[in-house]
Amino acid sequence: MNKRDRKRDKTGRVRPSRAAIVLALGSALFAVSLSGTLVAQSASSKVPVEFQPGEGKFNNFCARCHGAEGIGTKQGPPLVHKIYEPNHHGDAAFQRAAANGVRAHHWQFGDMPKIDGVKPEDVDQIVKYVRWLQRQAGIM
Ligand code: HEC
Repeated sequence: MNKRDRKRDKTGRVRPSRAAIVLALGSALFAVSLSGTLVAQSASSKVPVEFQPGEGKFNNFCARCHGAEGIGTKQGPPLVHKIYEPNHHGDAAFQRAAANGVRAHHWQFGDMPKIDGVKPEDVDQIVKYVRWLQRQAGIM
């Protein structure tokens, strides 16, 4: 127990009991274990219907490295980033990246492999979704 907690006790404010903390942790873990489905769902609730197919495909094929909602991970850069706005990386760059992979040149994540199983039509939808995310972020 640190000083702050003790002070709080004296003010008479209720400190969360150990059980409450365990419960909170438990439900956080539960949420994480469901996150595969939850991320898709909670994101869908604000993503306009027209971009939801792209969102689903992005989550399937790209989010593992580029992160949920394109914010990046330890495996890959954010696509919601100035350098990926259309004037710098047009839609064709997305098609090329998916079909051929990318030799690392902007970042230190290593090369992007070509993505098996994703069709050009899928990438079209993914790009629409990523452009929407970029607009939301004020990048374009
Ligand atoms: C296995 C990890 C991984 C996956 C999966 C992945 N990427 Fe990438 N991607 C990367 C990395 C790493 C880079 C950055 C390369 C560099 O340093 O410029 C990158 C770069 C890119 C770029 C920039 C290309 C350029 O010309 O500079 C685009 C566009 C892109 N990815 C789109 C996608 C799309 C679309 C998907 C899903 C279909 C996807 N990526 C899936 C790792 C990944």
